[in-house]
Amino acid sequence: MREPLLSVRNLCVDYITDAGDVRAVNNVSFDLGKGEVLGLAGESGCGKSTVAFSLMRLHKPPAFISGGEVLFNGEDILKYSDERMQTFRWSEMSMVFQSAMNALNPVLTMEEQFCDVIMRHTSMTRDQAVRRAEGLLEIVDIHPSRLRDYPHQFSGGMRQRLVIAVALALNPKLIIMDEPTTALDVVVQREILQKIYALKEEFGFSILFITHDLSLMVEFTDRIGVMYAGQLIEVAPSKEILSTPFHPYTEGLAGSFPPLTGPKPKLTGIPGNPLNLLEVPQGCRFQARCGKTKESCFKTATRLTEVEQNRMTSCHLFTGL
Ligand SMILES: Nc1ncnc2c1ncn2[C@@H]1O[C@H](COP(=O)(O)OP(=O)(O)OP(=O)(O)O)[C@@H](O)[C@H]1O
Ligand SMILES: [Mg+2]
Repeated sequence: MREPLLSVRNLCVDYITDAGDVRAVNNVSFDLGKGEVLGLAGESGCGKSTVAFSLMRLHKPPAFISGGEVLFNGEDILKYSDERMQTFRWSEMSMVFQSAMNALNPVLTMEEQFCDVIMRHTSMTRDQAVRRAEGLLEIVDIHPSRLRDYPHQFSGGMRQRLVIAVALALNPKLIIMDEPTTALDVVVQREILQKIYALKEEFGFSILFITHDLSLMVEFTDRIGVMYAGQLIEVAPSKEILSTPFHPYTEGLAGSFPPLTGPKPKLTGIPGNPLNLLEVPQGCRFQARCGKTKESCFKTATRLTEVEQNRMTSCHLFTGL
């Protein structure tokens, strides 16, 4: 394991709703190494974006962090003052949002938007900030002369690259990417991810990469964490997780998408519906959809455990509970 940059420990995030308190993220713990790309997978509503926003402390009411630690280079950023967090955010940890296409301000030129981020966090003059912005555009293969343009004057793929350039503006050590390319066609999607990967190799930042596209995730990550109903239920090297899944939910995910090579098996999918977080059962949260349950699955809560070197799962079949 590489030296950890980020260590998330027992992170809990709740939403206060009219129907009650919903724990959307429950005791999530993971490490992200320096220069590592970690994927976060799982079906819609399992809590991926809630984790991402909480790490940036950009979650808004009705969400609140109800427990845990987010250690960045050993310091718990949940304890930072709001001012300290403002300095930290974007310069140390930045984010490409799920709705990145809408993340740019439509009434400001890109020059204004870049300069705003750069000058707020550094002592650069306007001229220096503009030069830095021009360099950032070159990094994402957009001609620097386009800096004077408004977001609507760019194509969708270019806007996506602009958002990535803004995330890179202050040389952060960690970039969180929540579905950074979902709205784009597959060719552009791959080009952008290859670009990000090349930048990562050059600048050495770490990435937390969230996408619904498992084949892309396997290709562009070192390890993958799988979430189910607010919990992290498996973490494994990307090369192994789909060929030898441990958790029955991961097995279901692996059986839901076709292999890129070889004969095409019948896709199996995962029966049943996602768990209603207002009705969490005793024991394992996946019990109602699992074909392999044993007695303890209905009694004992699960806990992510290292069951082999570099292989973590919360499933009782592997943890021995
Ligand atoms: N403002 C809110 N109020 C109440 N519950 C919320 C709110 N936002 C999200 N949730 C709940 O939190 C849970 C996690 O949502 P989140 O957006 O983190 O999921 P996700 O894994 O990112 O899903 P997707 O893949 O669709 O983006 C869901 O059950 C969702 O219903
Ligand atoms: Mg999301």
